[in-house]
Amino acid sequence: MRTKIIELLKNENIEYEEIIKEAGEVLKAGGVVAFPTETVYGLGANALDEKAAQKIYEAKGRPSDNPLIVHVADVDSVYEVAEELEEKTVSVMKHFWPGPITMVLKKKAVVPLGTTGGLETIAVRMPKHELARDIIRAGGGFIAAPSANLSGRPSPTKGEHVAQDMDGRIDMVVVQDNVDIGVESTILDMTVNPPIILRPGAITKQMLEECIGDVDVDKASEDNDATLVPRAPGMKYRHYAPKASLTILEGDIVSRVRYIEEYIGQNSKAPPMLGIITTEEEKEKYPQGSNFLIFSLGSRLDEAEIASNLYSVLRAFDTTDVEHIFSESFWDGTMSAAIMNRLNKAAGYKVIKLSAASKIDK
Ligand code: TXA
Ligand code: MG
Repeated sequence: MRTKIIELLKNENIEYEEIIKEAGEVLKAGGVVAFPTETVYGLGANALDEKAAQKIYEAKGRPSDNPLIVHVADVDSVYEVAEELEEKTVSVMKHFWPGPITMVLKKKAVVPLGTTGGLETIAVRMPKHELARDIIRAGGGFIAAPSANLSGRPSPTKGEHVAQDMDGRIDMVVVQDNVDIGVESTILDMTVNPPIILRPGAITKQMLEECIGDVDVDKASEDNDATLVPRAPGMKYRHYAPKASLTILEGDIVSRVRYIEEYIGQNSKAPPMLGIITTEEEKEKYPQGSNFLIFSLGSRLDEAEIASNLYSVLRAFDTTDVEHIFSESFWDGTMSAAIMNRLNKAAGYKVIKLSAASKIDK
């Protein structure tokens, strides 16, 4: 399949209208179009057409029990695909839409089980990104869109990431800018009381509680306990896995550097290529040299920047010979639950808590 990749320039109105129209036609004909949202790039197809939704699973290599989020361009559309919208659901829509939060609701019969992974519930989201909403509208109003990566790879935050994973597999990619937030939307299950956060994102537990009162968190989204089954089917897969193995080091900079030096000492016969994920404030403090590839996620004081660069940095390591990556942890901001959920998964939950005198376990 030939994939049409179109880069949209801002303020070129004529081209914009034409491209939206073309993307809409591809979607209405049952095709697959990738486009940016404010969280990550999405891989869109008509959510009400089971065959079209099926193409998304094929393009991503995604397990068929992992349901898709249905994207809408306005609040009224939700009533066409979901039953029994309660007061709290309406409050969340009013406060946070358009924006990075998805709600799980009871589905109506028009939504095929092929879109919802066989579930009687539907996940719905109205993205803030204007281009996304224009494409959704042009494509018929109900667009299933998972992140536009191959299953198991980090979600795409730049057009080039989508091209890397999807060229030759889908009809069209519309590229505009790099995404804003960089981690996927919060998912809130409204079919239970109190509602439960299934996946942390930019809309936090605290923000939700200020709006609708008590909110629980699905323990399985925070923990590697194998006995816990996540309520969002997608959360059970080891997502966001870089090619190199990744370990999170928790502790101050002195103990982290000491740990890495000991690690190299123990592997001194054939020094491995090591990657380090750090911040602007600390990047100079690690050992430097040709065996080290050090990527900064940005300033420690700017967690939005850290979130928006995370997937890009994980992808960048995949094009190198780095065998092992050490990352700092980022627990000190409002988005830390979202950031650490992704980083923990990428690390397969390998975390080493360092005390000042820590030694490597032999
Ligand atoms: O920010 C986002 O949400 C992005 C952009 C493109 O909008 N989309 C996204 O989709 O992250 P995806 O498919 O990569 O993740 C969807 C998650 C999966 O973990 C899936 O299992 C869960 O949502 N999900 C979808 N429908 C569900 C349902 N009915 N009940 C529980 N979990 C559901
Ligand atoms: Mg995804």
